[in-house]
Amino acid sequence: MKRAAAEIVPLLTLDRAAAKPLYRQLYEGFREAILTGRLGAGQRLPSTRSLAGELQVSRLPVLTAFEQLLAEGYFESRAGAGTFVARSLADPQPASGGQAGGRTPPARQGRRAVAANPGLPLARHEPWLRGWGAFRVSQIAVDHFPLQVWSGLVARHGRNPRASQMLYGDPMGDHRFRETLAAYLRTSRGVRCAPEQILVTSGSQHALAIAARVLLDPGNEVWVEEPGYPGARNALATAGARLVPVPVDEEGLDVAAGFARGPRARAAYVTPSHQYPLGATLTASRRLQLLDWAQRSGAWILEDDYDSEYRYESQPIAALQGLDRDSRVVYIGTFSKVLFPALRVGYLVAPADLVERFAAMREAIDDFPPALYQAVLTDFLAEGHFARHLRRMRLLYRERRGALVDALRSESGTAFQVLGERAGMHLTAILGAGAHDRRISEQAARQGLWAMPLSACYLGEPSRSGLVLGYGGTGIPEILDGVRRLGGLLTSRRAPG
Ligand SMILES: Cc1ncc(COP(=O)(O)O)c(C=O)c1O
Repeated sequence: MKRAAAEIVPLLTLDRAAAKPLYRQLYEGFREAILTGRLGAGQRLPSTRSLAGELQVSRLPVLTAFEQLLAEGYFESRAGAGTFVARSLADPQPASGGQAGGRTPPARQGRRAVAANPGLPLARHEPWLRGWGAFRVSQIAVDHFPLQVWSGLVARHGRNPRASQMLYGDPMGDHRFRETLAAYLRTSRGVRCAPEQILVTSGSQHALAIAARVLLDPGNEVWVEEPGYPGARNALATAGARLVPVPVDEEGLDVAAGFARGPRARAAYVTPSHQYPLGATLTASRRLQLLDWAQRSGAWILEDDYDSEYRYESQPIAALQGLDRDSRVVYIGTFSKVLFPALRVGYLVAPADLVERFAAMREAIDDFPPALYQAVLTDFLAEGHFARHLRRMRLLYRERRGALVDALRSESGTAFQVLGERAGMHLTAILGAGAHDRRISEQAARQGLWAMPLSACYLGEPSRSGLVLGYGGTGIPEILDGVRRLGGLLTSRRAPG
């Protein structure tokens, strides 16, 4: 049944004098109405035009709120039929714990509604994260992975595990693996560490979640880069942190702005080698300012070094952790970019005096990491396969990156400004003022182009619009075709009418 605009209006309270933008108020009003069951799954919504008329607001905030609710999976549109509250929100099991009669939000579908952060979005509902293919961020070149060598090592360790590899292990991880990793981190990344400081995790997301639980109390403020990595924000927020967005510029995190906005922060999350998503390298002076702040205020620095091995015009930038003389930095790394994300192996380097606390937290959460891939990775690194793989992939990704940058720069009629192309497996194409990047990303996703909108990386109001384009898993012909099609989407938006 279609709900008339007049029936919807009482569900939405708008405060025109509030600092919060109208679209945000509308978005939150709808979300609340759905979560409390006042708007049921499958209900048809009035048109944006009639709703705007009834609310006496312009159509733009209504359209923006609808787009957000569509993107987050609260609404769904059916061709020719209109917009509906998503049918998938019909809760198959009664919600427990304070949501009686309500709906499970998308972020908790399929799970019971226990105490959780109600604002936490489930990333895979975003249209640009629904498929794999051209421009998908974090997609590696799977077809260039040395599967023969890898499967040989998996077979070696799968067939003949040592007895110790079948029993309970060390919460910090296998010692041989940590020795091999420590040697690699010292020589290739400039990290100062002993094997005993390394904690093996299930990816950097897990490492961040553990670090946040060890280092922070609920309610502590944490600086996060703005724009920044949504995954990190979610890990910190679920540990109860209050996020303080700190702007980044061409020198990386603006430390002085951090002092001003979050003087009492207990930690800062940073991607110093290759800022996610804009690509700046944190300059030396900013590194020192940040370390000095951490030392003076007793705060922690969470350094996420996720893809710095892929650097194209220079050597990889040395880790911030290597400059730290006061044990304030927790260094976090992952094999998700340099090998493949489904491996789920990452690690953190804990300050020496906190090793016992990290081990205890790890043990309390999930005992210890699985043995098989630690053994495989130890040999993969020690036998030189890893270094060889990195050399090959650096060349491949450099070539793809070059094709993408050239194509973006020569796409006529568009105004792409390219940022962050010096490293990693993605770059950001900044769009001209007034471009609505979410809308472009949604249209692109309908064509199988998985370009992430830059605005999705902002915690607050986005100050820039752009597309974050992954090229790791995108071959050159697809890159050229994809840029042409993105250019087409942009120019058609600008066409009159
Ligand atoms: C900034 C950043 N950190 C870390 C990761 C990797 O996370 P994980 O190791 O959990 O796969 C990603 C992946 O997209 C990322 O973009």
